[in-house]
Amino acid sequence: MALWGPVLGALLTAIVGCLCLSMLFRHRRPQEPPLDKGFIPWLGHAMAFRKNMFEFLKGMRAKHGDVFTVQLGGQYFTFVMDPLSFGPIIKDTQKTLDFRKYAQELVLKVFGYKSISGDDQMVHSASTKHLMGQGLEDLNKAMLDSLSLVMLGPKGPSLDASSWREDGLFHFCYRVLFEAGFLSLFGYTKDKEQDLQEAEELFTKFRRFDLLFPRFVYSLLGPREWVEVSQLQRLFHQRLSVEQNLEKDGISNWLGCMLQFLREEGVDSSMQDKFNFMMLWASQGNTGPTCFWALLFLLKHQNAMKAVQEEASRVLGEARLEAKTSFAFMLSALKCTPVLDSVMEETLRLGATPTLLRVVQKDYILKMAGGQEYQIRRGDKVALFPYLSVHMDPDIHPEPTAFKYDRFLNPDGTRKVDFYKSGKKIHHYNMPWGSGVSICPGRFFALSEMKIFVLLMVMYFDLELVDPDMPVPPIDPRRWGFGTSQPSHEVRFRYRLKPMP
Ligand code: HEM
Repeated sequence: MALWGPVLGALLTAIVGCLCLSMLFRHRRPQEPPLDKGFIPWLGHAMAFRKNMFEFLKGMRAKHGDVFTVQLGGQYFTFVMDPLSFGPIIKDTQKTLDFRKYAQELVLKVFGYKSISGDDQMVHSASTKHLMGQGLEDLNKAMLDSLSLVMLGPKGPSLDASSWREDGLFHFCYRVLFEAGFLSLFGYTKDKEQDLQEAEELFTKFRRFDLLFPRFVYSLLGPREWVEVSQLQRLFHQRLSVEQNLEKDGISNWLGCMLQFLREEGVDSSMQDKFNFMMLWASQGNTGPTCFWALLFLLKHQNAMKAVQEEASRVLGEARLEAKTSFAFMLSALKCTPVLDSVMEETLRLGATPTLLRVVQKDYILKMAGGQEYQIRRGDKVALFPYLSVHMDPDIHPEPTAFKYDRFLNPDGTRKVDFYKSGKKIHHYNMPWGSGVSICPGRFFALSEMKIFVLLMVMYFDLELVDPDMPVPPIDPRRWGFGTSQPSHEVRFRYRLKPMP
């Protein structure tokens, strides 16, 4: 037995040595994209990438062109920057590019959830049923009630609700969307006041996890932060446990339907708790930050604010709050708001920065729209970063860094869908939701809830920035690639319920 230790040790060293050597000596083969391994063995460009992915990729594109392979922490990523060539990658009819494998590893690490066969299709089909069509109409009603509860309180507006209050705009939007979204999807108990308190506490923990999230994904946390992340994970598993949820009313059909699938597949309850945590993250991590950018842009661009307010009073009438516990709001109006739709699309163009990742299952030929072909090796990853290659392309979106509320409107007021690159009509001109197999299944609900929130804010509240001359804060560079971006600092604002007539 004692002999096995040194033998195994030697074997392991040999394997690791071979792996390191093969990586160290990886050379660009004919027909492969330019290869940039960086100067640090194994790590490659990982540090620069994690520090500021956007600037790093901009530099690489300037150096190598529209396709290049970079080494990041022992793995090779081929970035494709020409959106006219996205089609075959996103459609991938040969099923050579796999989305699941990478996602499964990530959710195991971050949420503790061990994926089972068929759960990805199940999430998409439950979302088609309950986050779109009639299911969406029911959920919109639940969301309007929850927003009323969170924004007005369980007893309706208090007497001083018409006095000015000050808050951080980012914190305010994130908190309100989180609390209302959490209650709408995960349900209520009989005690609304207690529910609100629980939602508020959960938001504080969620925000803490959110702040650690990018460095957690990149395995860059210090020892104390590791301990904190594990404690937070356990807290979420416990607070969202299916046992606790049994006592709740009105858990959304979306979540109910997914949990039923897991139960029927024999997934034990502790793993269902972890699934809940994953769904909390997916459903609440982006809507609040997106609403922050939307309201900030409206506050900074009064012409846009005026256009949205005019549209709102046209389709919803004048808002009157009478001493009620919920906002009067015709949900059917959500279908007739092209101006607000354009504002949201423009906000997502400027704020959403997802990365689309696929693992190459067998050697793959990448065919570019211009006719070039590149050989990509099995095991490498193909990556798209549409924020840089699409959203910020001045050919597709002139003055790409400017907020133009009507960018997605035709002169006749209908939705604009015709965008061009190099004179060619482009299909993927805005990609906040990802695309293809991994497209966000919650996108219709996300848009509805964000629109309801923005409309309530501009109709029922007076809003102003504490410092109207303060420029829009830059994006926090550590969060590039993780869904909707966050500002690098808070923006103070004031709000009050419009005085009742
Ligand atoms: C502004 C709001 C949102 C944005 C920008 C957004 C964006 C995205 C993106 C880019 C992905 C794909 C990630 C990838 O390719 O790996 C995704 C996945 C997902 N989103 Fe959203 N999302 C939003 C809101 C929501 C909401 C409200 C829900 C549910 C109620 C939701 C549920 C999901 C789920 C379940 C997945 C994982 C799908 C899978 O595993 O295939 N999202 N989201």
